Amino acid sequence: MNDNKKAIISILRKSEGTPVSGQEIGQKLGITRAMVWKYIKALRKEGYDVRSSPKTGYILDSCPDKIDPDMLQSILKTTLIGSDIQYYTELESTNNTAREIALGALEGTVVLAETQKNGRGRMGSEWQSVPGGLWLSLILKPSIPLESLSKITLVAGIAVTNALRAVDVDAHIKWPNDVLVRGRKICGILTEVSAEIGKVDYVVLGIGINVNVKLSDLNEDIRRNSTSVSNEIGKPLDRTSFLASLLYELEQQYIRFKTRQFAEIVDEWINLSDTIGRNVRVRTPAMLIEGKAVGITEKGALVVLDKNDKKHKIIAGNCRYAD
Ligand code: BTN
Repeated sequence: MNDNKKAIISILRKSEGTPVSGQEIGQKLGITRAMVWKYIKALRKEGYDVRSSPKTGYILDSCPDKIDPDMLQSILKTTLIGSDIQYYTELESTNNTAREIALGALEGTVVLAETQKNGRGRMGSEWQSVPGGLWLSLILKPSIPLESLSKITLVAGIAVTNALRAVDVDAHIKWPNDVLVRGRKICGILTEVSAEIGKVDYVVLGIGINVNVKLSDLNEDIRRNSTSVSNEIGKPLDRTSFLASLLYELEQQYIRFKTRQFAEIVDEWINLSDTIGRNVRVRTPAMLIEGKAVGITEKGALVVLDKNDKKHKIIAGNCRYAD
């Protein structure tokens, strides 16, 4: 988009519904009122709903539902997460692209796409990535042993849940990394890693959030157990602003992970989760464990007490609630 159009959108967004006159915009940009009007007409054609009143000025009522990478850069309050933002209209999978570039990429690089042709979920499942969602992968380079990887997933779950609660979505984490609202999935997290001799080279944290996803766009079997932010709050959300606050949350949680005791993170995770205290069935690659979820270990494993009072510490698996 041309710089003047970007600047007009930015001015109107910042005015938050207060009219801004063509003269004021023109003065700020060093162009005439007639030029401002010409750009406004062009923006309308691109889907920006700009109201105009001859007496008061212009108001931005709505923007097309596209992530705006320039706007994101201008509102982002982070220093590490989002150090580089690579935006695509469509990708096979943001996790694939992130893994391809990870070794040479800055820590905090974010790869995001409006849609994915081949979005991947955990355990080889498909992740439907239709328009309106946030499909992103974050490259992290923590100096941690491979066994601490599941902690990063818990950290990401906390960040997503906090960002969703900030927009009035009553989100809860289901171990290890699903975020649910009223028992329906709104977000999934796929953590992938490259490590050598047990030490992590990089982590790709793939996060998929159904923000403005229309549930009717999802396959029936997925739709049944899914929800989206717009479905919960009854209106679409500005995905660019939401992404900025999600990246901020991710940075806060990642800094805490690097500087504080993990017990602090476990406490917050338990507060945001509805798994602890529930009867669960957890399928691991080796076995099926049934019992009551009673806690999280200092390594990030789920502790399940079975009917014989035997404690199982599970680092990875697929969890279902049994009640
Ligand atoms: C799950 O199965 O719950 C995890 C889903 C993860 C989906 C996200 S969308 C962005 C990133 N790219 C992918 O291909 N998958 C992850």
